[in-house]
Amino acid sequence: MEKKNLKFYIIKLLDILYKIYKLFYFKNKIINLRREILNYNYKYHVLNNSNILDYQYDKLIFKLKKLENLYPYLKNKYSSTKLVGARYKSLTFLKKIYHKIPMLSLNNVFNEQDLFKKFLFPINKIIKKLNFCCELKFDGIAINLLYKNGILISAATRGDGIIGENIIKNILKIKSIPHTLKGKNFPKNLEVRGEIFITKKNFKKLNQQRFDKYKLFSNTRNTAYGILKMNKNVDKKIFNLLNFYSYGIGFIDQIKFSNQQEILLKLEYFGIPISKYTRIYSSYYKIINFYKYFKKNRNLLPYNIDGIVIKINDVKKQNILGYTNHAPKWAMAYKFPSQEKLTLLKKIIFQIGRTGVITPIAYFNTVNINGVNINFATLYNINEIIRLNLKIGDHIIIQRCGDVIPKITNVVINKKFLKRKTNILIPTLCPSCNSILKKTTNNILYCKSGLFCKDQLKAYLKHFVSRDAFNIYYLGEKLINKLVDKNLVKNTVDLLNLNNHILSKIDNLGNKFINKILQSLKNKKTITFNKFLFSLGIPEMGTISCYYISLFFKTLENFLNTNLIELCSIKNIGKKTSLSIFNFISKKDNINIIKNLLKKIKIIYPIKISKKNYFYQKKITITGKFMFITRYNLVKKLKILGAVIHTQISKKTDLLILGTNPSSKLLKANKLNIKIINENKVFSLFQKYK
Ligand code: IVH
Repeated sequence: MEKKNLKFYIIKLLDILYKIYKLFYFKNKIINLRREILNYNYKYHVLNNSNILDYQYDKLIFKLKKLENLYPYLKNKYSSTKLVGARYKSLTFLKKIYHKIPMLSLNNVFNEQDLFKKFLFPINKIIKKLNFCCELKFDGIAINLLYKNGILISAATRGDGIIGENIIKNILKIKSIPHTLKGKNFPKNLEVRGEIFITKKNFKKLNQQRFDKYKLFSNTRNTAYGILKMNKNVDKKIFNLLNFYSYGIGFIDQIKFSNQQEILLKLEYFGIPISKYTRIYSSYYKIINFYKYFKKNRNLLPYNIDGIVIKINDVKKQNILGYTNHAPKWAMAYKFPSQEKLTLLKKIIFQIGRTGVITPIAYFNTVNINGVNINFATLYNINEIIRLNLKIGDHIIIQRCGDVIPKITNVVINKKFLKRKTNILIPTLCPSCNSILKKTTNNILYCKSGLFCKDQLKAYLKHFVSRDAFNIYYLGEKLINKLVDKNLVKNTVDLLNLNNHILSKIDNLGNKFINKILQSLKNKKTITFNKFLFSLGIPEMGTISCYYISLFFKTLENFLNTNLIELCSIKNIGKKTSLSIFNFISKKDNINIIKNLLKKIKIIYPIKISKKNYFYQKKITITGKFMFITRYNLVKKLKILGAVIHTQISKKTDLLILGTNPSSKLLKANKLNIKIINENKVFSLFQKYK
């Protein structure tokens, strides 16, 4: 009897093992079939070059369908049986895409002294033993490729770092970017970050083809960008001119990496192209040599690089150093000096920015650097004029910093150039509103008149209508200047209230154009919370900090009721920004403007709060300690549900949440007859509104 039993179990076990084997066998078969079909789809739909007969293709689909029906749990929404052909076509070109993790930039240095002062020494103070991953800095366009279960499903430009534009249609035509990952065990989501660029040879070839027919591309980066954005009626061959290298990842599920090198190797394993010139060094001397080597030999590379990137290799150490809103603190771009040109300084204009800061702008005789004509450069502040001992008529050296921003690096002292020079007069009065200018301790000039100063108002209105804020079409710089000069617009609300009558007071504005403006204003009914925050023009608040702030506060009401302590506690928001926000929301004028804006526009919040939930719009105060939740998380949860948190009890308080060891808030709440609930009750309410 026992023997019979044993035999029975062995047979059963073998049967199970066989089923598991079969499952894995068919899972692999399904995956391979899907990839094969995707490849044919790509050739057919993107390259217009099918290399399979219709009946053979149908046979593959039939085979896949049959297997998927046998193992329905292996079906997913990326299966070719569902996506055939239409997959990429359905994706709208240039549609906005949220990066799963913001795409940051890099801090730059241009000389060895700054590299040590701003990067290596400060880091060495915090962490002693370090390995550095030294990479080339490719001069192209940053791109974010999203692979879902190993299949490329979207490709976005960097955009404002949070939202980019979907350019998958063109990306799919670039040969070096794989449509499916190689190998196995792909993460569910993988954001591959890298640079699209054009080789020097292809750049030359393209411009030769364009000669006489189209405008020539001025440099390799602009060319890569131009090609990526091309839409319709383009010869697909043009995309073969582009190349791609990955330098890292954004979001990733499942896989944890211990260092940058491991990340790059994994990407290579997945079939993603990476540079062969990456090196790991622990000595400063070797880093400098790596830089010097490529500075000297960059001409031998087939593509343009504008420097090297030095990254802390160890991921844990990277996390200790963290990020600013703009760049990681664990990486630094050490850029090559760019081409220099000699020219003559003609005049300095003192420009007033939207926050009142005065920036001297130097205008000079036009020079051409790397194919781009330049005739002005910003001097940042008056310190720069003093540092350079600058005079009108000086012979100056212009350099394009990082090959982009023009900069005056030097004044040439030469007997030949000594004649006819005029001192630069630093203004004491605002060139726009004539008010007395103030100076900060570090010599930054600013006008304190705020939006009463016309130039400040103009600059702010330009910011307000810009793409990352209200994004209103047809309200360009010239029109805004005229509206302000004629006193037709005194603030942002006036701008949103523009009508036919007001616009017809501007010379040379046709009816057709007026209608376009009015239509675009009419269409502007909603704005996302982060863009609304950005539109307020709060000093120090860039698009990325607005994004974090919007996620933290969830509603405008929470934001306006915050305090300095809370602001300082927000991850990724520094003290300077917190202070600036606090100053802004403490001013009555600003709150009035916000109130008036809200009459015209509706804010869209990241998460919809159900108005039916118990905490919605309740004014809540918290006291004591909690067993199962930190106070930070409790506040966060309550805010998500739309509660308004007050630090002190008052007559207006709706609810006190009571922990252990409460403060005098409990006594006060009792006195004022305010409802009190404990942690258990809070949790049962959270559960209800989950
Ligand atoms: S790392 C969070 N590595 O340079 C770190 N960037 O000036 C993100 N770039 O937007 C960048 N080569 O598009 C990194 N080896 C490299 C790079 C690189 C080129 C670009 C990248 C970035 C820009 C910043």
